[in-house]
Amino acid sequence: MSKPKDTNPNRPVIQIRRLKKYYKVGEEIVRALDGVDLDIHNNEFVAIMGASGSGKSTLMNILGCLDKPTNGAYVLNNKPTHKLGMSALARVRNEEIGFIFQTFELLNRASALRNVMLPMLYSSRHIFSARKRAKHALKRVSLDDRMTHRPNQLSGGQRQRVAIARALVNDPSILLADEPTGNLDSKTTVEIIELFKELHATGQTIIVVTHEEDVAGHADRIVRLRDGRIISDHPTESDPIHQDWVDRMASGRGSLAEVTQAERELNHIADQKREQALIEEAKSKPRKRLFKSSKSSEIGSEAKS
Ligand SMILES: Nc1ncnc2c1ncn2[C@@H]1O[C@H](COP(=O)(O)OP(=O)(O)O)[C@@H](O)[C@H]1O
Ligand SMILES: [Mg+2]
Repeated sequence: MSKPKDTNPNRPVIQIRRLKKYYKVGEEIVRALDGVDLDIHNNEFVAIMGASGSGKSTLMNILGCLDKPTNGAYVLNNKPTHKLGMSALARVRNEEIGFIFQTFELLNRASALRNVMLPMLYSSRHIFSARKRAKHALKRVSLDDRMTHRPNQLSGGQRQRVAIARALVNDPSILLADEPTGNLDSKTTVEIIELFKELHATGQTIIVVTHEEDVAGHADRIVRLRDGRIISDHPTESDPIHQDWVDRMASGRGSLAEVTQAERELNHIADQKREQALIEEAKSKPRKRLFKSSKSSEIGSEAKS
């Protein structure tokens, strides 16, 4: 029913340049994102990691067109979303993004089928085929025998499957999941991750926020954030922190809470880089105003909305 995904791995889906999101809290400026550059290509499976407060959800909300950056560029499938107004942004969100949350965010009084139909009722694209598409999406997550159940009649893993079906139903170009297994036990976590891997194998581009190294280990690439900046970005098999974790698990010395030597070294490098970046920034923009949005951006400036 839905067309096969374009699996060309060279097509950039996400291009982010110098992305900043600042919040003013009382007198203080919180730099939730502080100059992020990131490219994600078609059919990548990326894990975003970082301590609590490092900016992961803020980044996901901007990637998912739920929020706009204070400054910088976010081009999604060649559309410069940072130039769109909120209603145009909502349209892009509805057509291009599938979002999955830790807390499922389902309507408790509606059946699984109704929950999955909802995104299509807000968009004219699939309004007449909504029921058929919703059934198909529930089948993809192996819930075709639970369509009339309400969320409170389903297990946590089944609820998350409904949420995944809802995220898939508009055939989004990216699937964004913010700690999707945070409320699930380890067995159910494995099931959900297996489902992500199946979707990835059919061409889906997936970005998942997690702080579990075992979840991240299923992605192809791990991007680590700290204080609103990317401090490392490696293929999973060459990510030093992940590999260190894998080694410790294999030798039975594993403890998730431990700060490893690899992490300490990375933090040290990140501190140096950050210091240097701040010095460069101070040199180049001596009287920079915080909330002025930049007129020039490197990418996507040709397509005006
Ligand atoms: N709406 C908001 N208003 C003010 N500060 C915020 C808001 N949202 C997030 N922050 C702050 O931005 C930082 C990054 O938050 P967040 O993206 O939620 O981090 P994470 O998801 O990595 O835990 C934190 O310091 C957080 O307190
Ligand atoms: Mg978060």
